[in-house]
Amino acid sequence: MVIVLRFFYLFMGEWLNEKEKEMKVVAFNGSARKDGNTAILVNAVFKELKKQHIKTELVQLAGKKIRGCTACRKCFENQDKRCAVKGDIVNDCIEKMLEADGIILASPTYFADISPELKALIDRSGFVAKANQDMFKRKVGAAVIAVRRAGAIHAFDTINHFFFISQMVVPGSSYWNVGLGLAPGDVNRDDEGIMTMNTLGANMAWLMKKIQE
Ligand SMILES: Cc1cc2nc3c(=O)[nH]c(=O)nc-3n(C[C@H](O)[C@H](O)[C@H](O)COP(=O)(O)O)c2cc1C
Repeated sequence: MVIVLRFFYLFMGEWLNEKEKEMKVVAFNGSARKDGNTAILVNAVFKELKKQHIKTELVQLAGKKIRGCTACRKCFENQDKRCAVKGDIVNDCIEKMLEADGIILASPTYFADISPELKALIDRSGFVAKANQDMFKRKVGAAVIAVRRAGAIHAFDTINHFFFISQMVVPGSSYWNVGLGLAPGDVNRDDEGIMTMNTLGANMAWLMKKIQE
């Protein structure tokens, strides 16, 4: 009986350790089009993360209420890890970012930059993070961009500016994290783009595990 109980506690201990180690990546798709090319690219990153038993969640901003930063600076007064502007999805997004070990910010290219919805999320969550001692510090961040033809690198840079000023850690891939397509689903024909996302997912998982060690 004693031996059986010992085994039980040993097993439970291991199981709890594993649970503690469970990591998560949250992705925000800034496209106005739900489940379009940007979402497909994010899912190609997720595929590799899931292989490494990392939990994933995709938040699609399409159709959701989200406004830009009002520059009220109340986040610096309150220092409560929240944006003082209520009534839209930003505080829910900030909560998900805080809980996650890795954050993917994904956007289609709109006039050679990211979508206004994703920029609003960056400005507001970024300011709140600054007001709270860089609260995303050392989380892993990755940008994902869908593009028809040109402007993707500028959009990619916009997102990386957020990660770097937030003291986050950014993994690379075999190419810049870009997939080509116009109509929804087109990116599936961009083999190199999909492969770039798979490699990004594998590198993100590797980096997150190293940071957790
Ligand atoms: C308002 C708007 C602006 C766009 N600007 C560009 C651009 O500057 N360069 C480009 O190559 N494609 C541009 N596109 C095309 C999208 O980036 C492309 O269709 C992308 O695959 C859309 O991703 P989604 O399916 O996730 O929405 C634009 C599309 C829209 C709606």
